[in-house]
Amino acid sequence: MATKNKLNYYLTIGITIIISTACVTYQSKVKIEKKYSYNEQYEPLIEDLISKMTLEEKTGMLHGFGMFVSGGVERLGIPEFHYTDGPNGIREELHRHSWEPLNLNNDYATFFPTGSALAATWNKEMAYAYGEAIGLEARARNKDMLLGPAVNIMRTPLGGRTFEYFSEDPYLNTRVAVNYTQGVQNQNVAVCVKHFAANNQEYQRNSISVEVSERALREIYLPAYRAAIEEADAMGIMGAYNKFRGEYLCQHSYLNNQVLKNEFGFKGMVVSDWGATHNTVTAALGGLDVEMGTFTPGQNYNNNYFGHPLRDSVLAGVVPIEVINDKVRRILRVMYNLNKMNGNRIQGELASPKTTQTAYNIASESIVLLKNDNNTLPLNIKKHKSIAVIGLNAKQSQAKGGFTAGVKPIYEITPLEGLQNKLKNKATIRYAQGYEQEFEVKDNWRTPPVNTPNRALLDEAVQAAKSSDIAIIFAGNTREIETETLDRTSLDLPFGQNELIQAVSAVNPNTIVVIIAGGAVNLGICKQSASAILYAWFNGSEAGNAIADVLLGAVNPSGKLPFTIPEKLSQIGAHAFDSLSYPGLNGVVQYKEDILVGYRWLDKHEITPAYPFGHGLSYTTFSYSQPYLNKTVFRPDENINISVKVKNTGKISGKEVVQCYMGITQSNVLRPVKELKAFAKTSLKPGTEDIVELSVNAHDLAYFDEKEMNWVVEPGLYKLYIGSSSRDIKGTTQFEISR
Ligand code: BGC
Repeated sequence: MATKNKLNYYLTIGITIIISTACVTYQSKVKIEKKYSYNEQYEPLIEDLISKMTLEEKTGMLHGFGMFVSGGVERLGIPEFHYTDGPNGIREELHRHSWEPLNLNNDYATFFPTGSALAATWNKEMAYAYGEAIGLEARARNKDMLLGPAVNIMRTPLGGRTFEYFSEDPYLNTRVAVNYTQGVQNQNVAVCVKHFAANNQEYQRNSISVEVSERALREIYLPAYRAAIEEADAMGIMGAYNKFRGEYLCQHSYLNNQVLKNEFGFKGMVVSDWGATHNTVTAALGGLDVEMGTFTPGQNYNNNYFGHPLRDSVLAGVVPIEVINDKVRRILRVMYNLNKMNGNRIQGELASPKTTQTAYNIASESIVLLKNDNNTLPLNIKKHKSIAVIGLNAKQSQAKGGFTAGVKPIYEITPLEGLQNKLKNKATIRYAQGYEQEFEVKDNWRTPPVNTPNRALLDEAVQAAKSSDIAIIFAGNTREIETETLDRTSLDLPFGQNELIQAVSAVNPNTIVVIIAGGAVNLGICKQSASAILYAWFNGSEAGNAIADVLLGAVNPSGKLPFTIPEKLSQIGAHAFDSLSYPGLNGVVQYKEDILVGYRWLDKHEITPAYPFGHGLSYTTFSYSQPYLNKTVFRPDENINISVKVKNTGKISGKEVVQCYMGITQSNVLRPVKELKAFAKTSLKPGTEDIVELSVNAHDLAYFDEKEMNWVVEPGLYKLYIGSSSRDIKGTTQFEISR
């Protein structure tokens, strides 16, 4: 930018700051704070307790004495430790010694939007609020450790647990993970960040061995764990089921001891996934601290790997006592820092006005408007008086299913109920089921969904759509389709929904499709047929209120996709190779796309997806100025400060996520074209503007050099992209990193 222009720009910025501060209305009530950090004063108390314990008392603290409880030492006043699933709500109470529910009448909780929905808010305050609310509910149910957040990278959209995870992008992943962790831990509840590490598929999850380059591991798969530890003092990490480079993750000394504990400085406890411990000595020396969920016949927990066998290994001189002391120290450190030892803890609240409001806020900010031809949305109820609501997903609960990520909600508003509540007598709703939810039965297991349409239900839906002004089809997946233990076999919409969408759109030009899903689905037919498409997730107890508010315009959508929606599976890096790359061959899965996960692959190969990472429309429009940098040349440790002016050029208030990507223009090593390095969400009234300030430390532009085993910031020319999505780039500029 020429100097004169720069001057003008800064003058404009100065003036606009004054104007925009007066006009911006978005007042967040969420205060992100890091109250929690380990208190050194507890360390002598911990050492004193350890010195008083017998070996058997020590090993008694290192394994489960029930499904969700590990041992204490009554004699010394050390209580048992209580765990709870999971990432999207406090799970119902189970029998102490089995997975059987106790069917109590007071073990409900708020069902919070699942992981991908939270990430779709692209709002750090929402991630903090989520953690705070779920932490409060965990306390109200008297839990010590929440088994979440789940931060594995969405390597493939087929992954059964994609709905639990946040993103295909490590930076978005870290921001959500850090703020979620702080929110939880500020309520005297520990997180257990899971599933460490490179656990990116459910297919053969108990045995598959992941082969991935050290570079991809460091750049893509580890950042969220590292950030949750370094920035938020995460107190728990859960080891995954699978193997990594031939060794089970719960006994992987390199990852648990070297990377997690030594390099990242993790001071809390490594907990096994349930039933993921395979060995006594290797696991004890391999960095595992607590063995959970091992099948324990006759409830004789002392027979667990870390029970008497571990005691005996110490007595035989195979496992040094200091290894045991370190594990006990970590557990006691967590207990002390949670105030569990002095009982001075936050009481918590369950399904309270505050926690349900949080569930609503997140749900309403997570919904992504993918397409909106001719401003079909928001609905104009003055003009359109009759609505056909079609599809089982309009009416069914999404709280349960998905295995361990199910919640027993005290209530759950379905989309149909949400619309009925908001519309009352203002419009007529005709409901039609539209499709049948059938599964092929294979080996007594419900696998893949039947994809042929049910003609009678389809015809009924077409009739309803024909005689209504608007048709809204609630399509997508179910919690049985997207679930722990099973990867999907296809991205296609199940149960003949494509035919349904085509047939309904053919008779009603105002057809809106609302996708209820946690991961990407194939939207080919939907994109061609429907006038508007919303992605509305497995969105928690308040899902129906949130979607109704978005449809009716009370909430202007501001969610952005946390992953790519490909046109076909082969557009995704993991699926661009042979079966060794996915789902794996002979017990090994090799991450052949290496660092090019998610949009990084599509950028490099110039592939256009159905909807790109970061995409999401609004009912208003925004204009962007060119990005402005504080300097043009930066040292490798300097902050790069970016400002960009965003204006709401439409007629209603709205929120926009300003996304900042960066990439080096020339390099001797493989580098992505661009990578997300910062983002901010701004809220603007019509006609007002905001200067969005972003800051990136040049060090965050480093790549991981496998030979040196270190991060390297390459000197050279970098391109900066400011976008409303990863493909809707509003402005670019360049800067240099000096030596
Ligand atoms: C899951 C974990 C969960 C644990 C306890 C396992 O099957 O992988 O995510 O926290 O069970 O329910």
